[in-house]
Amino acid sequence: MEPRIVTLPGDGIGPEIMPPALELLGAVGDFEFEEHEFGGASIDAHGTALTEPTLDACRRADAVLLAAVGGPRWDSTDPEAPRPEQGLLGLRQGLGLFANLRPVRPLPALYDSSPLRRERIEGTDLLVVRELTGGIYFGNKRRDADGALDECRYSVAEIERIARVAFGAASTRAQSTGGPPRVASVDKANVLDILSDEAAMITGSIGMLPSASLGSPGADGRSPGLFEPVHGSAPDIAGRGIANPLAMFLSAALMLRHGLGWENEAARIESAVDRALESGLRTYDLGGSATTAAASQAVLSLINK
Ligand code: NAD
Ligand code: IPM
Ligand code: MN
Repeated sequence: MEPRIVTLPGDGIGPEIMPPALELLGAVGDFEFEEHEFGGASIDAHGTALTEPTLDACRRADAVLLAAVGGPRWDSTDPEAPRPEQGLLGLRQGLGLFANLRPVRPLPALYDSSPLRRERIEGTDLLVVRELTGGIYFGNKRRDADGALDECRYSVAEIERIARVAFGAASTRAQSTGGPPRVASVDKANVLDILSDEAAMITGSIGMLPSASLGSPGADGRSPGLFEPVHGSAPDIAGRGIANPLAMFLSAALMLRHGLGWENEAARIESAVDRALESGLRTYDLGGSATTAAASQAVLSLINK
């Protein structure tokens, strides 16, 4: 049976980078895609960022591929107004996606696109592992007449399972490089977004960073993962056809690897992206002038070579 993928284009540049990603996936395999509104688009259509039917479809899918959500259109100071990010948080919680993997691997072709000195970034092999379902995101929040509460509680089991992901990834990596496994534990007082956004500078643009969010199999032995770029909906460039689709493509590759166990197909996509950059492909965020369509075409044309 063909893998069933729920696709969530979302908002802003989301609907611009999702179609070429599906075209690329179609070039390496056969899939059944089922698209749903999500984030701001779902608020407009249904009044909420994540509907029950969409969450159900995601639960039944083999994997979920998301572009990005949000935009000024849904920004509001009204705490009761629905917000696009609620969809993202609801999906992470609804699917039990506690482990977020954000690999940061600068490509030699892009060393000069980073504002950092080449010798600082050369050979970087970093994996940011974020906990997504514990206290920082979902702790009890309350406000009454004389006080406020924002609880940040993690159970021993929650800490243990995310630590296992990080230490496991580090020791697997160390086995292939021969170096010592290294894990740095970083704590932060509110949502963990900042480290991987900063890591974007190592790769030249946030438009290059993919991510995978994984859970552990439930009673039925299934656990569909969520795959999405690290970046948001980039409202400042949406509608102009100039978004960098590569983080989306690399997220599709992570979906093949971690979501479906299709290592060869994942590696084919990653290699086509690498080679397109080596042959000079540069979107606007990387200082070039390639449009989304041109960048997509460049990668697509290399996929079978
Ligand atoms: P952003 O990542 O959307 O944009 C930051 C900057 O990077 C912008 O200048 C943007 O043009 C650029 N950029 C991002 N992705 C790009 C790409 N693929 N190609 C070229 N340039 C790209 O972050 P933001 O501006 O802080 O947030 C915008 C909206 O996205 C907000 O509504 C925010 O809540 C939402 N958001 C969503 C997610 C998500 O869906 N996972 C993540 C972060 C932010
Ligand atoms: C991300 C996003 C989210 C997060 C926000 C939108 C809640 O920035 O996936 O990095 O910080 O988890
Ligand atoms: Mn973020």
